[in-house]
Amino acid sequence: MSNQPQDVPRTEVHFTVNGRPCCILVYPMQRLLDVLRCELGLTGTKEGCGEGECGSCSVLLNGELVNSCLVPILQAEGAEVRTIEGLASDSLHPVQRAFLECGGAQCGICTPGMIVATVHLLQRCPDPSLPQIQEALSGNLCRCTGYSRIFEAVRECARQGAAQESEEYSAGTSRSTR
Ligand code: FES
Ligand code: FES
Repeated sequence: MSNQPQDVPRTEVHFTVNGRPCCILVYPMQRLLDVLRCELGLTGTKEGCGEGECGSCSVLLNGELVNSCLVPILQAEGAEVRTIEGLASDSLHPVQRAFLECGGAQCGICTPGMIVATVHLLQRCPDPSLPQIQEALSGNLCRCTGYSRIFEAVRECARQGAAQESEEYSAGTSRSTR
């Protein structure tokens, strides 16, 4: 967690996390990653490098994939944030299911970021080629799987039409958490 000078006043920030409105007192330069994990208890988003290199802290900010370790919390003012917790509710999200079935998750540190990045990819490109998958996940590093099972999981999602299912699922999740 980044250190915050004690003499800097905290300020209110308002945003929506996984469909729930949220108002929280923060230090201006606090990282979105720390607010999610430490203030809101959303520990599904992981910290790897803390420098924007590994993608394990990936979340969606207004629908765009971002490294939350690089996002000052004030940039989230008025925004819609979706984390790995916002994908699953009573049952696994289709992308989570595919990662499980294809062996795309081992130690699990990279997995939430990989899954969020995959959801982002499939919403823009429902039937990606292998090079498109490799490019879309190039900002997400994995030390365990050798990537082939992850890529297979993404292909499996595409075969099952997970993009459309994702949107319907997210819409349902969003409604049910308001
Ligand atoms: S922890 Fe954010 S990119 Fe590595
Ligand atoms: S499953 Fe361990 S880093 Fe990817």
